[in-house]
Amino acid sequence: MRSVNIGICGLGTVGAGVYKVLDRNSTHINSRANCDLVISQIGARRDNPNCDTADTAVTRDIFGVAKNPEIDIVVELIGGTDTAFELVMLAIENGKHVVTANKALIAKHGMEIFAAAESRGVMVAYEAAVAGGIPIIKALREGLAANRVNWLAGIINGTTNFILSEMDSKGREFADVLVEAQEKGYAEADPTFDVEGIDAAHKLVIMASLAFGMPLSLDGIFTDGITKLEPQDVVYARELGYAVKHLGIARQTEQGVELRVHPTLVPESCMISGVNDVSNAVMVNADAVGTTLYYGPGAGSEPTASSVIADIVDVARSINADASGWVPALGCNADMLQQQKIMAIEDIDTSFYIRFAALDKSGVLSTITKVMADAGISIEAIIQREQPVGEDYVNVIILTNVTREKLLDAAVEGIEQLDTVRGDVTFIRVEHLDQ
Ligand code: HSE
Repeated sequence: MRSVNIGICGLGTVGAGVYKVLDRNSTHINSRANCDLVISQIGARRDNPNCDTADTAVTRDIFGVAKNPEIDIVVELIGGTDTAFELVMLAIENGKHVVTANKALIAKHGMEIFAAAESRGVMVAYEAAVAGGIPIIKALREGLAANRVNWLAGIINGTTNFILSEMDSKGREFADVLVEAQEKGYAEADPTFDVEGIDAAHKLVIMASLAFGMPLSLDGIFTDGITKLEPQDVVYARELGYAVKHLGIARQTEQGVELRVHPTLVPESCMISGVNDVSNAVMVNADAVGTTLYYGPGAGSEPTASSVIADIVDVARSINADASGWVPALGCNADMLQQQKIMAIEDIDTSFYIRFAALDKSGVLSTITKVMADAGISIEAIIQREQPVGEDYVNVIILTNVTREKLLDAAVEGIEQLDTVRGDVTFIRVEHLDQ
């Protein structure tokens, strides 16, 4: 069998996982790749005490790996967007195929990278960039190739899901769970990327580009994280039969594409509501197949390595066959790339959970429901709970029917202006994911 030489750049959590799994399962992986996969060189700015790289040459000069004439595939696992971009472009310039797990890099610079790869005739693969060990990129690009995708919705950040699950099931504090997620290697180097929804936005953009033939760009995505979420809302949601999940949602509508990341109430009857801990899950609704669900570990050393190595195998097989057509195709022509319009969050229709503290006296509830009616919003459920929020105030929780977000904004403003309501109105979008 011929050999395919690999250069791994970055020996952190994922790099170590790739080294270990390639070493442990080499016979099996080589037979799938139909060649001998050889790690010729590792570029890492520091050693990893959790990874014994045995006789493999390790250099501190990662750019040297991109220029090494012996190497066929450069595996970029250093993260970040500046040095990683420079490294990937240099590798392409030097005729290397590239495998990367870097979602921020693909979301931000994907178009430029793919254009360079196409003109140089090399492949760029990024399965591990979205949902860790779940082969969702292959599912969207190949498995569902026959379909027009209507919508997709996913739990695509393991750290956020881990935090929400622990807060929900064990009543733990946000900060305490975040530290555990960092220790376990789930969280990004800057964990605000996880908890503010930025990491999920990167992954959503990548999936939407494949599902809807859109350019890779972060412009226009509505992004909200979980830092403002209060434990009491998780409890009220449960009372109403919902779980609170942090979702990335992309939906093709006649007006444009919805692209949004935010905490969402999901009915307990929906499978995705039972996806807990660091697990990820993506539901895809498409015209021919209907709704499919992809579930698995969304972060961690070996799950992510599993996806990186799947790409290495794919690329290696193609090197020995015909590499043309391997630059990621977004499933559209150049005109379509420009035509897709992203909807403003105000124009999106969904249901809402809202909560506020109202004075506990007669007539208050009817004033509030009048504000809702005047805004054209229909109420699906309402609960009033006595809580220690103040002597005379009670918590009121309302579930609405589907409404346009701008109408909800008007109602929220109206409610906040009432003398009988104290403080801000909390609202969370609700998705039933049933059609
Ligand atoms: N920080 C990411 C997460 C790692 O928690 O999902 C995988 O992309």
